[in-house]
Amino acid sequence: MAIINGKEISAKTREQIAADTQKLLEETGVRPGLAVIIVGDDPASHVYVKNKKKGCEQVGFHSEEYALPEQTSQEELLQLLDRLNADPKIHGILVQLPLPRHLDEKAVIERILPSKDVDAFHAANVGKIMIGNYDFLPCTPAGVMELIHSTGISVSGKECVVIGRSNIVGKPMAMLLLHENGTVTICHSRTKNLAEVTRRADILVSAVGKAKFVTADMVKPGAVVIDVGMNRDENGKLCGDVDFLAVEPVASYITPVPGGVGPMTITMLLKNTLTSAQKAAKGE
Ligand code: GUN
Repeated sequence: MAIINGKEISAKTREQIAADTQKLLEETGVRPGLAVIIVGDDPASHVYVKNKKKGCEQVGFHSEEYALPEQTSQEELLQLLDRLNADPKIHGILVQLPLPRHLDEKAVIERILPSKDVDAFHAANVGKIMIGNYDFLPCTPAGVMELIHSTGISVSGKECVVIGRSNIVGKPMAMLLLHENGTVTICHSRTKNLAEVTRRADILVSAVGKAKFVTADMVKPGAVVIDVGMNRDENGKLCGDVDFLAVEPVASYITPVPGGVGPMTITMLLKNTLTSAQKAAKGE
C-alpha cells in the first residue's frame, strides 16, 4: 500500500554524510577517498560505477575511477590493488563485480586490505559480520535494513524470508535480519514449494534477478516487500523481481524499482568509506 521512497531516504542520509565529511575535513584535514575499479565493458556495471562516482561528488569525497580493459591480467589488477592499499588518500576500494571470466574474483577480493574493503566482501569482514562485530556492513543488505527501519516496523520476532543466497546479498541479508531477532528463512533455486514459504513472510526480501518473479499469490497480505532485483522487462524497461502492480495492493510497504534499494546501496557504500576515513584519521 505504502511505497518506500528509497530516493528520498537516501538523499537525507547523504546530507548527513556530507555534513560529517565536512566536519572530518575541518577537524583532521582528512577527506574520504574511494577508488572504484571496473574491468571490461559491461554496460550495466558502467552505469553502477557512474552512479558511485556521482555519489562521491555529492558528499565531497575524493574519488578515483580505474576503467581497465577487458584483457587486463590478474597480475596487473593485483598490482593496482597493492598500490591503492598503500595510498593514504584512499580509504575505500571497490572492484565492480562480476569480473571477466579469466580473472580470479576470490583472489582479487582477498587482496583488498580489509580496512579498505568498503563492500565488506573480504573473508575477514564476512567473518566479522557473522559474529556481529563489524566495521562495515555489506552495502545492499545494510540499505535494505535502513528501508525496513523507515517503516517503523520492528524486525524482532517477525518471519523474514530472503529469496536468493548470493554472497553479495542473500547470505549477509539473512544475517542482518537475524541480528535484529528476525526468524529467517533463505530460499533458493532448489527450494520446494517456494510460494508456501514466501507466504509466511512478514518481511519478504527478493534478490533473484528475474523480472516478475514474485507474484501476488506469493505474498502474505500486509507483508513488507523489499525488491533488490535490477532487471529489464520484455520492453527493455528497468524493473525489479517483484510484479509491482500486482503485489503493491497486497503489501503494507513495498520498494519500487528504480528508486528503492538501488540508491540506498550507494549511500551505504559512501557511509562505509566515511567510517574508514574516520578510523584512519584516528590512526586506527
Ligand atoms: N556488483 C553488483 N553489486 C555489487 C556491489 O555491491 N559491489 C560490487 N563491488 N560489485 C557489485
